Amino acid sequence: MSICDLDVMRRMIRLCDDGWQQGWHERNGGNLTYRMTEEEVAEARPYFDAQPRPWVNMGVTGKNLAGAYFIATGSGKYFRNVMPDPEDSLCIVEINGAGDSYRIVWGLVNGGRPTSEFPSHFMNHSVRCEATGGACRVIYHAHPANLIAMTYVLPLTDRDFTRELWRSATECPVVFPGGVGVVGWMVPGGAQIALATCEKMKEFDAAVWAHHGLFVSGPDFDTAFGLMHTIEKSAEIWVKAHSVGMPIRQTIEDADLIAIAEEFGVSLRRDFLGDA
Ligand code: 13P
Ligand code: ZN
Repeated sequence: MSICDLDVMRRMIRLCDDGWQQGWHERNGGNLTYRMTEEEVAEARPYFDAQPRPWVNMGVTGKNLAGAYFIATGSGKYFRNVMPDPEDSLCIVEINGAGDSYRIVWGLVNGGRPTSEFPSHFMNHSVRCEATGGACRVIYHAHPANLIAMTYVLPLTDRDFTRELWRSATECPVVFPGGVGVVGWMVPGGAQIALATCEKMKEFDAAVWAHHGLFVSGPDFDTAFGLMHTIEKSAEIWVKAHSVGMPIRQTIEDADLIAIAEEFGVSLRRDFLGDA
């Protein structure tokens, strides 16, 4: 028995491999964090290092996450290598009582630090945890090519992206009735992009990073992966439909979106329907 046999670690590792298989994680692209339950921490604790590594200040604060433990992908680590070598690619970090620093308690056996986007993940966990009454546990960032391609041709607004994605596949308004937020291009990896993303994640459970990728949140690995997958599939259909060289003749109309919402019992953001 090793820590990687624990159910939570297997789910973490599986998502990394699924994302790699989808082609969303070239080189070290993308990152994943999971906020552990108390039971999961208790199960993992016997495998923690005898001596935790030093505290590292994050440059952002999330008071509601004081004392939390996260499983995280390492900075510069390849999703491709997570399944064959999880101890080298992943870590578990503990958050301090002030909610502004972390320390590694397990993993990254050959050295390293959690993803460079840890400030963004951490702040998004803080916001989504608050917005969902503690249900949100997963933040997942990937580089799906079709969605990134859309950020070169569409206006970078929440409404434009949400409408185009909703109308590109019938299940979309059911899977993300709240829509998606859009963050304009920013330098990745710091507090600034973390704060800009958080503003969107107060309202949305997915945020597009222009010319970069997508951030999604969810209560568990399946839901977060499913949201990433659904949004990218919709983007792929959009890109294909707009690339075949023929005009768009018909689409899912606003009345159709409303009918889907009524049938499936979800409420769509009304300000994203009808004329702007
Ligand atoms: P990390 O290797 O630090 O996780 O960075 C990858 C990435 O996608 C940055 O946005
Ligand atoms: Zn990235």
